[in-house]
Amino acid sequence: MNAKSLAIQERVDEYIERQASLDVLRFITCGSVDDGKSTLIGRMLYEAQLIFEDQVAALRNDSRRMGTQGGEIDYALLVDGLVAEREQGITIDVAYRFFSTDHRKFIVADTPGHEQYTRNMVTGASTADVAVILVDATNGVLTQTRRHSFIVSMLGIRHVVLAVNKMDLVDYDEDTFSEIVTDYEAFAHRLAFSSITAIPLSALKGENVIERSGQTPWYGGPTLLGYLETVEVKGALMDHAFRFPVQWVNRPNADFRGYAGTVLAGSIGKGESIRVLPSGEVATVEDIILFERSLERAIAEQAVTITLDRDIDISRGDVIVAAGDPCEVSDQFEVSVVWMDREPGYVGRTYWLLSSSGRVSATLTDIKFKYNVNTYEELSTRKLELNEIGEVTLSVDKAIAFEKYEDCPGMGSFVLIDRYSNATVCAGMINFALRRAQNVHRQALTIDKHARARQSGHRGMVLWFTGLSGSGKSTVANALEQVLFEQGIRTYILDGDNVRHGLNKDLGFTDADRVENIRRIAEVARLMVDAGIVVITSFISPFRSERDMARAMFEPGEFVEVFANVPLEVAEQRDPKGLYKKARRGELPNFTGIDSKYEPPNGAEIELLTNTLSLDECVARVMAYLSENAFWKQGA
Ligand code: ADX
Repeated sequence: MNAKSLAIQERVDEYIERQASLDVLRFITCGSVDDGKSTLIGRMLYEAQLIFEDQVAALRNDSRRMGTQGGEIDYALLVDGLVAEREQGITIDVAYRFFSTDHRKFIVADTPGHEQYTRNMVTGASTADVAVILVDATNGVLTQTRRHSFIVSMLGIRHVVLAVNKMDLVDYDEDTFSEIVTDYEAFAHRLAFSSITAIPLSALKGENVIERSGQTPWYGGPTLLGYLETVEVKGALMDHAFRFPVQWVNRPNADFRGYAGTVLAGSIGKGESIRVLPSGEVATVEDIILFERSLERAIAEQAVTITLDRDIDISRGDVIVAAGDPCEVSDQFEVSVVWMDREPGYVGRTYWLLSSSGRVSATLTDIKFKYNVNTYEELSTRKLELNEIGEVTLSVDKAIAFEKYEDCPGMGSFVLIDRYSNATVCAGMINFALRRAQNVHRQALTIDKHARARQSGHRGMVLWFTGLSGSGKSTVANALEQVLFEQGIRTYILDGDNVRHGLNKDLGFTDADRVENIRRIAEVARLMVDAGIVVITSFISPFRSERDMARAMFEPGEFVEVFANVPLEVAEQRDPKGLYKKARRGELPNFTGIDSKYEPPNGAEIELLTNTLSLDECVARVMAYLSENAFWKQGA
């Protein structure tokens, strides 16, 4: 090789080397079906590839002209390290595409945009540093946009690009762009983003994607690629305490026992002490092996085998952590989930939970709420449906080492798998551990409610009164109880005003407190029904979902909803406790009917129009229903 061609070869090598040393930005593009996501990704890949190929081709041509005999350029070198990338945890269809510019290498998670593909989006987003959220300038911000933003925020992505696409279709109108941005920001300011960068662009025409557009002189921000090339997203993984889930125990012969896995966070050096979780045993690192080499230190994201100075019982799913900075171990958690299966998630159902600790059995013990992704409203629910996002509690059959997702995503993320279909039903993030309910088991009892019913001559049931304050619930309940009592029926009234002085005195009148109020009452009523009592509950119980939740806790026939129905004006006029007046004066916030909603029942078994019926007539109505249905006499 002569000096000239050598110099050119060096330039090629130098270019490739520079490329190999560039940092990597992972991003995800989220959009609805026709937002132009594929066009955008296609354009970026194509143009970035062109830039790249132009440069290499130029060098190549030079070298050809000069008669260089240099070997083929290994393009694979450019993406070295990238191809080896493994998506962690969830394996669903996400196409990862690679491209590179002079400044950075990029991995873009390309996920289908249909609603049912939220799962793919979750997968793609779980490893991304930046989310590019596409909005069609002709449609503006959609529910889908909000849902995606919500998920992206929940998964810990802190930088968002609001890519307002198809600006060509709105004549690059600044006002249209600003309106969309304002609309989006009004929603997104409550999400945990550290930056939102809005860019007006046209993927189709290539405006503001790579090259600055001449069509948007009013826009002074970066182009999309310009932004992606420069945004700072440093990972905190290295600064974290050492976390190493054991993927398998390597024991080729009696002399060697190594623990293989990938360092999730932090680093560890030879001679340093470690702790094994959940057992808590301590040892010292003897050797760290990467392929055949022995390393002084293993750092985050390296797949290594660790040996220890002494034999302790470690198995797959255990986590080796820094001895002085261990993480928690628990078997009950409060978690955020994105439901990804057509079959809804129900309280009480059991799934497989896959996490850094391998596979354990997990039961959904409670759904605290699901989000309305448009308003952030926390809605009470007994199930989570496809694409819904909620907070739930889980109980696993074996304690596992974990960390809050926001502190260490690798130690705090999991998926739930349906035991029968093997489908991934949700992706989840651990918020914190629940400790209070440990070691509680069910006791089998010999005397059941049927035996009790035989003894007392009637079954237990619940008459669930609902209606506005002042609708007459308590008055009718009280008169009804007297009639039942006289007939020898064992009864009990659970009344809002009374129970709120005792069992529920910690609860106020926010929606969440009302939900909890009703949940407890439903639980108490269930115990009483089990004890064979005819329970009359008298609570506003303003939300359908809680009344339905209560209903779902009982057997068919055991739960009878009684709607004390009066127009608000009538209840307000009665105002037996003067509370409506107070509420109107603004002295009583969240008052039902005034500034807190009441959802009338759709299918109450009994409806009492208490302003047209007398008290006796109301009682007679309920008694008539009871004798017609005679549930409580059955089987007694
Ligand atoms: S519920 O909504 O959670 O079912 P509950 O029936 O227990 O309400 O309590 C309602 C009673 O609390 C009312 O009859 C009234 O006397 C009193 N109260 C005090 N503040 C409020 C309020 N903001 N809204 C409704 N009721 C209230």
